[in-house]
Amino acid sequence: MRAITGILLLLQCALVQAQNPLVIPPALTGSTFNLTVQTGTQIFYGNTPTPTYGINGSWMSPTIIVNKDDSITLNVINNLPVKTTMHWHGLHVSAMNDGGPHQSINPNTTWSPSFKVRNNASTFWYHPHGAGQTDPQVSKGLAGLFIVKDAAEAALNLPRTYGIDDIPIIVQSKSFDDLQQIAIASDMDTALFVNGTLNPFFNAPAQVIRFRLLNGSSLRSYNFGLSNGQTFYQIGTDGGLLDTSLALTRLRLSPGERAEILIDFSGMVSQTIYLKSYGSELLTGIYGADVVGFGADTIHEYEDNFLNGLDFNLLRLNIVSSTGNPVTTIPNALIPYVPFDVVNATNYRTIVMDTIRMLPIDVPNLAEGPFGMNNQTFDMDVVNDTVHLNTTEVWMLINKTLIAHPFHIHDIQFNILESSGMPPVASEAGWKDVVLVMPGDTVKFITKFETFADDMTPYMYHCHLLHHEDDGMMGSFLVIDTTATGISETHFGNAFSVYPNPTSDVLNIATTGNEKYTVTIFNSLGLQVYSSGQAISNLQIETSTFPAGIYFLQINSKNTTITKKIIKQ
Ligand code: C2O
Ligand code: CU
Ligand code: CU
Repeated sequence: MRAITGILLLLQCALVQAQNPLVIPPALTGSTFNLTVQTGTQIFYGNTPTPTYGINGSWMSPTIIVNKDDSITLNVINNLPVKTTMHWHGLHVSAMNDGGPHQSINPNTTWSPSFKVRNNASTFWYHPHGAGQTDPQVSKGLAGLFIVKDAAEAALNLPRTYGIDDIPIIVQSKSFDDLQQIAIASDMDTALFVNGTLNPFFNAPAQVIRFRLLNGSSLRSYNFGLSNGQTFYQIGTDGGLLDTSLALTRLRLSPGERAEILIDFSGMVSQTIYLKSYGSELLTGIYGADVVGFGADTIHEYEDNFLNGLDFNLLRLNIVSSTGNPVTTIPNALIPYVPFDVVNATNYRTIVMDTIRMLPIDVPNLAEGPFGMNNQTFDMDVVNDTVHLNTTEVWMLINKTLIAHPFHIHDIQFNILESSGMPPVASEAGWKDVVLVMPGDTVKFITKFETFADDMTPYMYHCHLLHHEDDGMMGSFLVIDTTATGISETHFGNAFSVYPNPTSDVLNIATTGNEKYTVTIFNSLGLQVYSSGQAISNLQIETSTFPAGIYFLQINSKNTTITKKIIKQ
């Protein structure tokens, strides 16, 4: 009996340790991106196919690579049998183009946001964001990197050959049920993936390699480190590069956070090391930490998850010969960091993370939730906060629960002012759109709401633990322009709104219904200067290159043709 168990164990170990080459998601470049969201299957264990989702394939999503200031169109083609949404996490786009819960894409329809890329070089990502549907769709494979490049980054001596010395690393832990289906809203996330690959290895050339780390997990935080104790260098946070590279042996990322790091493998040919997560060092209250002191007995299943509190391998790195023209040095100076200045803050806002008390009988559970923001849960029809365009604000995030929550906000990048009563740690002293708020702690950040105003369509802020988000730990905010020089918004009947008018940078056209339309713009001589082409249901037109003057906008839908005078300043 004992011998048999031993053999089974050996077999299991052999299976567990079989190594698969790390999949590098295909890169998409250009100005038009066709993203077909589809169903598929994948074999992960044994012979049982697991139903999956993918973009332009059956599993996972391509990497979008763009340049700052590019005008791009993304055609999100929903071939799923259910509604989806697609959010450009970290990108500064209008609320209509943001892909939050309000920009739902029905099965067999296409959503085509168009916008100018305004962010600085960094590693962003994209994923579905349907109300209550984020975890199911992300877990099944819908998550990809969105890389922005710019001239300042290009001037640095950094590795930037995608898939060769510039490597995407999307780390996700998933739960599988007995039928090998990806289980949703489960705390048994014991299957570790990098770029959708189980037990991955990567042949790293013996030179400086850049890794773009994304924690794309539903719950788990990772405490990255290298098995040989080697120092690595952080060069970027969520929304930009740091001002100087930062030598580290550990780097913690909570769900939604990104970081770019450099590892110098020079002189290490034929060595093998591991990128690991040192979960044993995670602080109490973080998903992924040990159960001791966590109040674990109140979190369903959490205490049974053997990965919690454990140090484990994420990626095997086999060091191979270097490439031609390798980068062999770690740059010190990167991108000057000029954070927002508190003296410019004119408004303060408080978000309290707490359990939602379901009166009268429910006993609030500070470890398991359900959680809310400012004692409310998400409601599609409620706007929780209203922000004024061009205002610098300080937000105070107060966590009254026993769990650490990664707070994420759309539209903007922020600078952390204070965390645990201290200035931010060096690895978070940069541009951020997610911050982990520890139990009982208060985090303050500063940001400015610029460029985009919309009286009707909100942005989101939420906990990026996807179970919490889907359960309603999310609020919405409008950015409104009350100083509009003229009419900030015009309604045609009840069907369309066109704003702002006069316009400078961008012109938004929105429908209150689901009506499809095409848009054409003529100048004052009657010459066509713009055409949207295919029918869409919301549109943002880049008008920054239009000479100042009077234009006529024509909207054609199935039932109407509307002409509207637009002033370009
Ligand atoms: Cu990555 Cu609102 O999400
Ligand atoms: Cu986001
Ligand atoms: Cu949370």
